[in-house]
Amino acid sequence: MPRLAEGFVNELKGRIDLYDVVSPYVQLKKSGSSWVGLSPFSQEKSPSFYVHPDKGFFKCFSSGEGGDAISFIQKIENLEFTEAIEFLAQRFSIPLQYSEENGSSAKPAVSRSLKSDLYELHKLVAEWFHQRLFDEDQEAQSTRKYWLEDRGFSLETAKEFLIGYAPVDRFALGKYLNTRNFSLPVLKKSGLFREGKGKELGPAVFTGRLMIPICDKIGRICAFTARKLEQTPEWGDRKSPKYVNSPETPIFEKGNLLFNLHLANKEISEESEFLLVEGQLDAIRCWDMGFRTVVAPQGTAFKDSQALLLYRSKPKGVVCLLDGDNAGQKAALSYVSIFLKSGLDARFAELPEGSDPDQILIEGGKGAMQRIIDQARPMIEYVIRQKLPDLSTASPKQKETTCQWFFSSLAEIDSRIALEGYLEQLSRLLGVPIDALKSDFLKFRRNRTPAYRKNAPEKENQSDESDRLTIVEEDLLFLLLHDDRLASPLANTLDMSWVDTRPVSGRILAKILSETHAEGTHLTRAQIEDLLEDDEERRTYHRLAIQEMDQKETGLSLRLARQCVNVLFLRSLKQREDFVFSQLKGADNDSDTLKKLSQELRSIRKQRSQAPLLEFTN
Ligand code: UTP
Ligand code: MN
Repeated sequence: MPRLAEGFVNELKGRIDLYDVVSPYVQLKKSGSSWVGLSPFSQEKSPSFYVHPDKGFFKCFSSGEGGDAISFIQKIENLEFTEAIEFLAQRFSIPLQYSEENGSSAKPAVSRSLKSDLYELHKLVAEWFHQRLFDEDQEAQSTRKYWLEDRGFSLETAKEFLIGYAPVDRFALGKYLNTRNFSLPVLKKSGLFREGKGKELGPAVFTGRLMIPICDKIGRICAFTARKLEQTPEWGDRKSPKYVNSPETPIFEKGNLLFNLHLANKEISEESEFLLVEGQLDAIRCWDMGFRTVVAPQGTAFKDSQALLLYRSKPKGVVCLLDGDNAGQKAALSYVSIFLKSGLDARFAELPEGSDPDQILIEGGKGAMQRIIDQARPMIEYVIRQKLPDLSTASPKQKETTCQWFFSSLAEIDSRIALEGYLEQLSRLLGVPIDALKSDFLKFRRNRTPAYRKNAPEKENQSDESDRLTIVEEDLLFLLLHDDRLASPLANTLDMSWVDTRPVSGRILAKILSETHAEGTHLTRAQIEDLLEDDEERRTYHRLAIQEMDQKETGLSLRLARQCVNVLFLRSLKQREDFVFSQLKGADNDSDTLKKLSQELRSIRKQRSQAPLLEFTN
């Protein structure tokens, strides 16, 4: 293993700005002298990931991770220390310096890690395949015809995606690579060749096929998928499959990759949704026709790790365009559990049976596709339709079974906000009372919690409970967060000056109520979260939002809220009274002022019995 030149690592670190290293992965906002964003290492909803470029380190308060540019790249790109350095050097065009081992002997500087050799090899091979597509021989001509006429793609698209052709001759690629400086172990580990005898390289894996390079998240070619063509040789007496993919190699882990993610990532925003399609050519078609947030798994089942890749880009959600056949529908259900667990919102589109996005775009154009996307159903609704097609006549037992299906995924959700949202949807769509649903869910979760952990949450709740009873603002906020019907009446009834905004809960309450007043309707959880300005507010909000409403309290929320309003009202009167008193004491015998103050005192005391009455508006 070659060693990097002494001092090179520090030189490298000195030449790059941590902000530039981190910003492609995390959307950073300025915060004092540092930058803050959502941690790429955990699925958090409020930013706790801090970058200090002047000090050259980052700190993630939710996962506890911290370090410098190199450890950041190691972690996010899943690289070894040396690889991370090579990665950074390449990205910032800083030439690598290796130490000259054993003094003088002038060794060529070919020493790099296996992975970077494999990346370089794939880039070279992809270019070679691409050139073969433009050869003059019969094979290349018929492949071009397939691409242009049969599939209706353009040459520009072929260039953009570096589409290529692997000749039928199984030794052509090996011969070409012989003229290049790749070591045998690198070639053997590339997945491009079959097992050879001893020191020999076997024949090429891909022969007579249309070659589609697969890139990783940062756009490095790391594998190929290859479509069958007319001239593709069969496998002995077996038919060769329609698609052949690279085997897993040190640079290709199928589950950690999504086709086109590196391009889709440039287009995605918090307002847009990823499009998830099944095939690579479907993805290329979508991209071509302007649906630029499209990604595709590698012809294998969609995995948690792939959902995490999407989650990290913080999209609004994902729209799944799965085949309309039975297998596609079945796959959809497994996708839903993955989305729920990973915190991604998803919608499912229904494609006409037997067609795929490619076909829809060719036959119906952009409009047809857009209509299908627009009609995609939110995932909870989609599953309910799959499981209970006749919802109106579904029995309570059937509904319960459907709920149980959701519970196992819901039990894994970290964000209580998201959890509450899904439970609400489920309750609304199935027409099951929310408290019944919640109590069933809690029962489900308790039963699967290991015994040694069962006592812990209860203790937490108890301490929350006693905290909650001490501050009336917090009581009211709690009720407000658990019963939407209270928001508008409270906003209309409560005088903002009654709310003490020194405690955090008071601040949050005041913000929610003024916003509710302005909006004229209760806020969604997301809107409320947007109002929160610092970690303290977020912590308090989350603590109250996740706290379950006591069985006794549900149904009593209006009465409890009235009590709180009463307390706030009386407290504000008391404050005014105290104020008038203090003025009375200081007042000289000027009888006019005295008279006014006494009058005010009487009026305050009269008002005590006139607390406003909170009512639900219909
Ligand atoms: P489809 O058979 O639906 O293919 O497989 P497609 O994408 O519509 O292909 P065209 O339009 O006929 O060229 C969907 C996906 O499943 C994977 C591929 O990723 C394919 O795009 N697949 C399919 C394989 O990996 N191997 C196969 O033999 C077939
Ligand atoms: Mn197709």
